[in-house]
Amino acid sequence: MRIRSALGDPANAERLCDEIDASIDHALREIRAFTYLLHPQDLTAYGLKATIEQYACGFAARTSLKVTTDITPEVDRLPARTQRSLLRIIQEALTNVFRHAKATAVGVVIKATESHFRLRIRDNGRGMAGGDARYGTSETSLGVGIPAMRFRLQQLGGTLEFRSTVARRSGTTLCAVFPHHLAGKRRSQRKGLLVIK
Ligand SMILES: Nc1ncnc2c1ncn2[C@@H]1O[C@H](COP(=O)(O)OP(=O)(O)OP(=O)(O)O)[C@@H](O)[C@H]1O
Ligand SMILES: [Mg+2]
Repeated sequence: MRIRSALGDPANAERLCDEIDASIDHALREIRAFTYLLHPQDLTAYGLKATIEQYACGFAARTSLKVTTDITPEVDRLPARTQRSLLRIIQEALTNVFRHAKATAVGVVIKATESHFRLRIRDNGRGMAGGDARYGTSETSLGVGIPAMRFRLQQLGGTLEFRSTVARRSGTTLCAVFPHHLAGKRRSQRKGLLVIK
């Protein structure tokens, strides 16, 4: 509509074309970032730690976000199914940071204690509206990302919390915890045995 009304004014039409060019470039960058965020990863090639680190580098390269990682090598000893779940949680969380946080930096940390693994993803963005420890447990959003993350963690015997204070614009921190023993064991229904994978 603006171009139509500027047809008799070449200078104005030229300016509008530049704006459209810039919008298309911006949209293409966003599409590239989203396709990167959701592309499947081959965990068998390098293990989870290296895969997360490479993934974080690629994510940073396609967005303006600074991404840091601090991943314990212990994650590579988790069963393949648990590694896939963790990676999907990280992909979804980084997608949320990219889409919603308006952050400039995000950090991904996985630590192992004697009994648990702890995943923390912290951004310095605008925070979550209504963000508190229980975010995503009720009908606060139509999104499926956080419920899916919570479900994956429940399957590992773990929990998911968000810490966020919109007022102070101190960003959002995702905190996930799951125990070693449940993440590494699967019950064999058929044989009634406890199988350690
Ligand atoms: N890091 C974040 N910073 C700010 N707000 C966030 C962040 N992560 C999530 N949110 C808020 O939580 C809401 C729910 O997230 P969720 O991932 O469940 O759904 P969604 O991203 O909106 O949609 P989708 O189903 O595509 O994931 C988001 O709409 C957003 O408002
Ligand atoms: Mg989401």
